[in-house]
Amino acid sequence: MGNIHNSITELVGNTPIVEFHRLKKALGLKGRIAGKLEYFNPAGSHKDRMALEIIEAAERRGDISPDKTTLVEFTSGNTGVAMAAFAAAKGYKFKIGVQNGVSIERSKLLEAYQADIATDIPQELILGVFEKGIAAFSEVIEFMEKGVENPYSTRQLDNPDNINAHYKHTGPEIWNDTDGKVDIFVGGVGTGGSTHGVSKYLKEKNPNVKVVITQPDPNDVVNPIVNGVEDGGFHGIHQVHDDNGITPMAPANFNDGLVDEYRFISYAETLRAIHLLAKYEGIFVGASSGASLAVAIKLALESENEGKLIIPLLPDNGERYLSEDLQKIRPEVEEKVGF
Ligand SMILES: Cc1ncc(COP(=O)(O)O)c(C=O)c1O
Repeated sequence: MGNIHNSITELVGNTPIVEFHRLKKALGLKGRIAGKLEYFNPAGSHKDRMALEIIEAAERRGDISPDKTTLVEFTSGNTGVAMAAFAAAKGYKFKIGVQNGVSIERSKLLEAYQADIATDIPQELILGVFEKGIAAFSEVIEFMEKGVENPYSTRQLDNPDNINAHYKHTGPEIWNDTDGKVDIFVGGVGTGGSTHGVSKYLKEKNPNVKVVITQPDPNDVVNPIVNGVEDGGFHGIHQVHDDNGITPMAPANFNDGLVDEYRFISYAETLRAIHLLAKYEGIFVGASSGASLAVAIKLALESENEGKLIIPLLPDNGERYLSEDLQKIRPEVEEKVGF
């Protein structure tokens, strides 16, 4: 009867795709850009899909249940927020470790959902994650699991249910909502789960769909402080290559085999894309969205992409980073951007 939902977990997915007509006109774009607005997910990002799939797949296997299991994850980002929200909605205890420099908004959201924030992780273990890469995550998780009865590590970096969430839902939604007309998909890499799952699905439907991966400009990575903001130079997306190929920063859930092209984007281009989208479309997105949108804009300016439909995945909303002043226009940073 009626249309009353039983839980916010029922509201995950089916996010809208919006075509940016006014942006196209203002920039004289040749290609069409339509962004997938993942901030419409109930806990605010594309990570909701993964968090829910990881929990529910483990439930289906009989590995976890709210009465006995404590979920454990180490993350500074949207995964923690999504996991905290759905752990609460389903009645799980959730222990989270956070990396240094987590944004104020996200740490306050974890507090709001009453996640158990581990404050005793030794700094050398946390720093090890930056220094040694992904292998060091297991050491942190091992430390966090000590003394916890029935811990279940959700392991976003190598849990295949992260990929499955996007293969089962995000990819099909893009295919269906574009009537199979998508030409180019643009995404970024944190765990690699979203681009892996989406690309796998889209290429199975049409091998000609091109997958472009957004990467932070190496100059920004070398100079990680931009306008007073120190974030390791990644600005919300990770660099998965060095000069010789895949670095240890490429997580197990990332799949290089599904990528057609890598495009490098500077922080200035990211900010410019964010401001253009807010100005012309009334949509304010976060930094990783801005980076993928900047790639989409560059592609849409190229003659070979005339009339093509380009879908960037826009993971979250700019409100999640207000403390970083993403909305602020900085002429000294943005003046060299070519769009
Ligand atoms: C805002 C934002 N954008 C992009 C990503 C990358 O997504 P994925 O982990 O699916 O590669 C993440 C997380 O890592 C994120 O929090």
